[in-house]
Amino acid sequence: MNAPTAAGPSVAHVAASARLRAELRLPGDKSISHRALILAALATGESLIEGAGDGADVRSTAGIVAALGALVERLPGDGSTVGYRVVSQGADGLSEPDRILDCGNSGTSLRLFSGVLAGLPMTAVLDGDDSLRRRPVARIIEPLRSMGAVLHGRRHDSLPPLTVVGRTPLRAIDVATSVPSAQVKSAILLAGLRADGRTTVHESVATRDHMERMLRARGVPVERADAPDGSVAWTVAGGMTVRAVTERVPGDVSAAAFWLVAAAIHPDAELLLRDVGVNPSRRAIIDILRSMGADIEERPHGDGLDDGVGEPLADLIVRSSSLRAVDLGPAEVATAIDEIPVLCLAATAATGTTVIRGAGELRNKESDRISGTAAGLRALGARIEVDGDDLHVHGGTPLHGGETDSLDDHRLAMTFAIAGLVATGRTSIGRPGSAAVSYPGFFDDLERVRA
Ligand code: S3P
Repeated sequence: MNAPTAAGPSVAHVAASARLRAELRLPGDKSISHRALILAALATGESLIEGAGDGADVRSTAGIVAALGALVERLPGDGSTVGYRVVSQGADGLSEPDRILDCGNSGTSLRLFSGVLAGLPMTAVLDGDDSLRRRPVARIIEPLRSMGAVLHGRRHDSLPPLTVVGRTPLRAIDVATSVPSAQVKSAILLAGLRADGRTTVHESVATRDHMERMLRARGVPVERADAPDGSVAWTVAGGMTVRAVTERVPGDVSAAAFWLVAAAIHPDAELLLRDVGVNPSRRAIIDILRSMGADIEERPHGDGLDDGVGEPLADLIVRSSSLRAVDLGPAEVATAIDEIPVLCLAATAATGTTVIRGAGELRNKESDRISGTAAGLRALGARIEVDGDDLHVHGGTPLHGGETDSLDDHRLAMTFAIAGLVATGRTSIGRPGSAAVSYPGFFDDLERVRA
């Protein structure tokens, strides 16, 4: 099969594979790549980013950094990754863009740049593709407005395009995010760097903490306070200097998730995944799959200790497994938010019924991932019930080939392609090119694992 691209075939076909064997390097972590580019724009001097993801989303962020006046140079990568050299005069050296800032399909670009622009003395408009124009923005408008920036969105300030009129300095605030969202938390922390005091963000569940670690690694203290109810407060002081650094981006655990599930549900599989980021706030998918019985061996790099500044890495070896059902609540959904579609695929192969409760945020992603996942997997014979924001996946259901549609959502395209490796017959995936949003080499790796 030819690897589909954004301009490639509108349908990809995947046949079952008798065996899965490969050693893979994943694309650079998407969340970290966005943040590395944005923080490079806020730092004075030259930043070097190695091993960044080269998906369309990260390219959108690189384009916006350049549109704000920083010098952005792409450096050769190793196929699945790319490097960047960014030279900036710091936040005060950024200039008002002379065109609309195009976030493409990237919700992370939209939310994080809102936080940056809120604290800059300029007017800018953030926009993107049809999917992005359906992503909620009230969650970002409200806190940034209370800091003194002016923001407006379409449909009574609920949808992009988003106009941001920034202000320097912003008012420091103490605020709770309206939904557990690392994008919203990160945007408020970015705005907090430009505020007149200490800004604190409370989140009911600890979401990914890359921004916090990356700020610390750049000389900006970020305080963490854990409450007994599991909520976490993060505090940053305004006016701190963000240092330019050289950094290597870990492999994306959200991309690794597809191969973890592929091997775990396949009868004859062993895959080695190199240099995967295993940050405690991102690794929930590994731990959930293990709790289902997945045979995942983890070989940490270095001493394996986590000082909360850098990003811990490990090689992962995953083998064919016998899975059992799991029961997940809203907190677990928040920490494995991007992996729920492929986790549903794993659940089809488990004994028992997997229940995933409180997954409503999945409807606000690149597509409605609750109905998209259910429709695609049902087309392959899965038994899935949707009850409001809950999913019930009945396991022990062998999959057969069929026709699925990614809805132009990268995580659905890859979930259905992985299903095709174990389903009998031929599985087709409509709009497969969306995989390139986060994992441009995905279909090449799919061929590689067939060994
Ligand atoms: C991301 C956070 C998550 C995730 C997205 C990337 C980030 O979104 O779904 O793919 O980099 O902060 P939310 O935090 O809005 O749930």
